[in-house]
Amino acid sequence: MTASLQPNADLGSIRSTIEKQLFYGRGSVLDEYSRAWDLRTGEAHVFNRFLSGGGRLLDVGCGTGRTSFLLADRFARIDAFDIVPEMIEVAQKRNLELEMNIRFFVGDAMQMPVTTSSYDAVLFAYNGIEGILDADGQRKVLAEVSRVLRPGGVFVFTTKSCFNMTYARRFYLPRLLARMGVGKHDGGSPLEVTVAQGGNRMRWHTTNPIAMKRQLRRAGFDLLYFNSEVALGRGQTRPRLASNFHRWDHFYACRKPG
Ligand SMILES: C[S@@+](CC[C@H](N)C(=O)[O-])C[C@H]1O[C@@H](n2cnc3c(N)ncnc32)[C@H](O)[C@@H]1O
Repeated sequence: MTASLQPNADLGSIRSTIEKQLFYGRGSVLDEYSRAWDLRTGEAHVFNRFLSGGGRLLDVGCGTGRTSFLLADRFARIDAFDIVPEMIEVAQKRNLELEMNIRFFVGDAMQMPVTTSSYDAVLFAYNGIEGILDADGQRKVLAEVSRVLRPGGVFVFTTKSCFNMTYARRFYLPRLLARMGVGKHDGGSPLEVTVAQGGNRMRWHTTNPIAMKRQLRRAGFDLLYFNSEVALGRGQTRPRLASNFHRWDHFYACRKPG
């Protein structure tokens, strides 16, 4: 299985693709993803509400297929891809073992290898979109989601919040200070976070939900629902202003106008 790199990809996105392939594609990270087969509280709520309509689902950045397998009985067809070939191999093996009919393949969310207007729903779960570090790359992903969805189709995705004291202490503040000449700078952009596990390392770009909602509007989506894992974990299913500022995960459901 070959890795998918965009033709004409710039050096930054080649580096970011290789980083993801090295991080997710081996060792304890791959093992963990290969064993993760359940939904978090917030995911269960949002998926039950917005990913139950049947038809065709595209699971973008599907990893080892966790969400595809868990949603399999809700859709007539599921196509799922990821930029890390080793994760797709795990998903394909499990697909065979479970005798399921999900179509797993390697691909890049910035240039989705699927046809236009062919899905009723698109999912990019568990902060995959934030592995795309620059705003231009995220814009490309949103444009691609809009291209592959049918009019009226639904897009569900999750992000990590930038309103997080742990991230602020470890990453944002030292970078800010370094820019002012105090301490060393690791070269990351202000809202980048670096995770390291079992000798693997990767960066993602944490998100300010207010800016993300603006980006969604600019990409032509109507926001249907937004909430945080913190609020949903407390059983607060009605969105409140405070959810924007909760730390950890955020959930978005939006629609391509029909
Ligand atoms: C945190 S993992 C989540 C995996 C899976 N969606 C889940 O919920 O279990 C993020 C996934 O997004 C994938 N990803 C990141 N950037 C991608 C891109 N440009 N194209 C396709 N997949 C990408 C990563 O390889 C990784 O498998």
